[in-house]
Amino acid sequence: MTPSLSIPPLTKDLARVLIDADTISRRVDELAQKINHDYKDITEPLMLVGVLKGSFIFLADLCRRLTVPHVVDFIAISSYGHKGDKRGEVRMLMDTRENLSDHHVLIVEDILDSGNTLSYLIKTFKARNTKSVSTAVFLDKPARHEVPVEIEYMGFEIPDVWVVGYGLDYKEQYRTLPYIAEMYPKK
Ligand code: IMP
Ligand code: MG
Repeated sequence: MTPSLSIPPLTKDLARVLIDADTISRRVDELAQKINHDYKDITEPLMLVGVLKGSFIFLADLCRRLTVPHVVDFIAISSYGHKGDKRGEVRMLMDTRENLSDHHVLIVEDILDSGNTLSYLIKTFKARNTKSVSTAVFLDKPARHEVPVEIEYMGFEIPDVWVVGYGLDYKEQYRTLPYIAEMYPKK
């Protein structure tokens, strides 16, 4: 049976739809085409490394559009956030199963906020004898950057608001909304 594709309505916490499902789909098509083009000559599978949990829907959509050989792996990260002198500290909670050395790696992440997560991951993976490390990020909040990060494949720039849907959550909720919605600021 085909699952229902009806669009869930906004709940009271959600202010508006920022990016609808069709727009997301078209953009993921474009990103996949670019990746297919850029990696067309690789001799071993591209290692897609999804950052749990927020990237899981973007990664699923992206990898099913890839025509270049690829494998999928995951990591889990803990970010201490913005508390006192722990600011910007990032820790690996779960590493990849595969050995990344001698592979082209594409990190797949939901959103670039401060940049601490991605700058840590890029540095860590580059130190592992990888052939290359690139990044695909679904959303970017330029107003929030604290450290510079180079992104090869970027979905959409958004303003400095909290967003949910398409993998992104607020307290584990709303990840499976098919669109990106802006939340009302919490009092
Ligand atoms: P960083 O600050 O760039 O290290 O990003 C840390 C993480 O914060 C991201 O990977 C997301 O999981 C999360 N995050 C940042 N902004 C949002 C948002 O608007 N909605 C949901 N998650 C977010
Ligand atoms: Mg994330």
